[in-house]
Amino acid sequence: MQFRNSCGFSATQLLVSGLALSRTALAVPIEDSPRQYLLAGKGLPDKYSSKNNAPGPNGPYSPGYKDPLDKAIDAIGKDLDPLPYRNGLGTSVLGPWNRDRSRQNPDLVRPPSTDHGSLPNLRWSFADSHIRIEEGGWTRETTARELGTSVELASVNMRLDSGVIRELHWHKEAEWAYVLDGEVRVTAIDYEGGNFIGDLKKGDLWYFPSGVPHSLQGLGENGTEFLLIFDDGNFSEDSTFILSDWLVAHTPKSVISKNFDLAPEVFAHLPEKEKYIFQGSKPGSIDEEKPTGKNVKKSKQNFVHRMLEQEPEVTSGGEVRIADSKNFPISKTVAAAHVTIQPGALREMHWHPNADEWSFFIGGRARVTIFGSSGAARTFDYVAGDVGIVPRNMGHFVENIGDEPVEMLEVFRADEFRDFSLFQWMGETPKRLVVDHLFQNDPENGEKFWNRVKSAEKDDVTLPSDEQVKSETQEL
Ligand SMILES: *[C@@H]1O[C@H](CO)[C@@H](O)[C@H](O)[C@H]1NC(C)=O
Ligand SMILES: *[C@@H]1O[C@H](CO)[C@@H](O)[C@H](O)[C@H]1NC(C)=O
Repeated sequence: MQFRNSCGFSATQLLVSGLALSRTALAVPIEDSPRQYLLAGKGLPDKYSSKNNAPGPNGPYSPGYKDPLDKAIDAIGKDLDPLPYRNGLGTSVLGPWNRDRSRQNPDLVRPPSTDHGSLPNLRWSFADSHIRIEEGGWTRETTARELGTSVELASVNMRLDSGVIRELHWHKEAEWAYVLDGEVRVTAIDYEGGNFIGDLKKGDLWYFPSGVPHSLQGLGENGTEFLLIFDDGNFSEDSTFILSDWLVAHTPKSVISKNFDLAPEVFAHLPEKEKYIFQGSKPGSIDEEKPTGKNVKKSKQNFVHRMLEQEPEVTSGGEVRIADSKNFPISKTVAAAHVTIQPGALREMHWHPNADEWSFFIGGRARVTIFGSSGAARTFDYVAGDVGIVPRNMGHFVENIGDEPVEMLEVFRADEFRDFSLFQWMGETPKRLVVDHLFQNDPENGEKFWNRVKSAEKDDVTLPSDEQVKSETQEL
């Protein structure tokens, strides 16, 4: 017992479905790998064979399974264990097996046959980011250090409980934020010295240009959680200019005294170190709190935008809301889209010409194939809390592979949101060229294709007809 515990194997971990291990067997540490089971003469546990991957021997991760169409499989929703079998190739896994990660990444375990060549890693889960825990709050980041391809933007996920303050600070990078839940108050001053106070709720954005000093405070019963985006992949939340750090730790008391024209004793009891995130007092209404000194002026800028209150662009398979400098003028370096993709729908094949896409998945399960030119393409799967990168100009789609809507943000270091739709491009190209490229030896289907695309309207999130969806899902 002692030995097992010190190795970190609990009895539950060893209890693999279908295997009745006796207590004597449990006394010996068994690595949770198929190889160990085989060496111990126990045969493979169900989870490593196709038996668990119903229905029957033709289950989607069994040796006999063939799918020339590379359909998506919702390994989590269907409780399947992806195994590397594809169209008669591949075999089982013998080494250590991380079931949860495999199910979250079915298209890494068995990539579509269209994947080819190498692309750098383009997926990170916030669940793999270190959390800094402070009084009444926490913060974690996904930056170029966690995800090497996140070069244009860095992100921070922060939680502030009711009344908890992210203290007054500023930084070189501009800051864009999306409120994931709860309520938050922001304060700032603009480049003309005008002050701003705003209260935000779920689905609202704020944007502070480079160097603008600001603060954040959780409101309501449970405070807030939000996603921050900075326009430099190397940004670190731990290296911002913080009021208390400057004053109490790095400025001679005599200078503080001169600066504010007050006796040094006034500053005898300043905090001893930076506060960063701390429990503050409960704020009153904005009217009660706004500064009223005789030289105070209100900012003419609006640092806040209600993104989810925007009338969405309704497409056949979902909704799109775009916030960039056209409707949120202050946001000059960050553009974003909030996208929902219904089950069975596809964020259509497209690319972004002006910036890398930095995406954040709020809900649902999706697969994305990124076409990197020169024959390279790789597929990644995303679940809630994941970050994805699509380098600029690389063609891609986002396919909802689960049974709930995919809700995601596409964020760009750009003043405007821009994308090219493959569908629209085809319809706006001379028929002769389109048919010559794709259907030179198949004029009949060339005609069908042309009839479909010739009046193409951009349909950002597209839902295929019932017939298509049916043939997609009938085998599972
Ligand atoms: C605050 O959190 C508690 C516990 O999770 C929950 O029961 C309550 O509904 C939340 N309140 C609001 C306003 O969301
Ligand atoms: C980020 O930092 C690394 C290491 O210092 C550096 O090599 C890289 O060029 C930096 N990236 C950007 C976008 O500044």
